[in-house]
Amino acid sequence: MTDFDYDQTLHLKQLLPAQAIAEIDHWITKYPSDRKRPPIIAALKVVQEFNGNYLTEELMQAVAEYLDVPHVAVYEVATFYSMFHLDEVGRHVISVCNNISCTLRGADKVIEHLQNRLNIKVGETTDDGLYTIKTVECMAACGGAPMLEVDKVYHENLTEEKIDQILSDIASMDLNSDGDSNQPMEASE
Ligand code: FES
Repeated sequence: MTDFDYDQTLHLKQLLPAQAIAEIDHWITKYPSDRKRPPIIAALKVVQEFNGNYLTEELMQAVAEYLDVPHVAVYEVATFYSMFHLDEVGRHVISVCNNISCTLRGADKVIEHLQNRLNIKVGETTDDGLYTIKTVECMAACGGAPMLEVDKVYHENLTEEKIDQILSDIASMDLNSDGDSNQPMEASE
């Protein structure tokens, strides 16, 4: 954690638009009022989406205050799940699994090919702000190793050709739409 001044945090309603607050309130109502921690994941997803795809200390503290849970409980969730980003990232975060099954089946080659194609290293974002490459722990798709996730879609049994196609599809999607990222997670071969 940083030297963030937790006493100076703005309230969540001062940091987010009413639409985002309404979405968080919707999730809160899904749980009994004495169960304050279950909505943390949903609240962080909403906050991240409204904050340009990453979370800040201030926002995490504001979420903790809003849900009436300890800051550390929010921080633990934000740092445990790879879908949450604690630094600015590109519009498309390419998360490459480099756990054991994926490594044994060529995750290193996947990472190398992505780095060459995008001209960035793992952890970096392209100058145009479009792509970030991350490595992540097992995403429970070991049967399709090596795999990556981008824009909430799993891509499995990766080859260089498949990676090129994924990048091409993303570029086409960006050209043809506003890149709606609210699609449900689904698997692709
Ligand atoms: S090791 Fe990569 S998905 Fe499980």
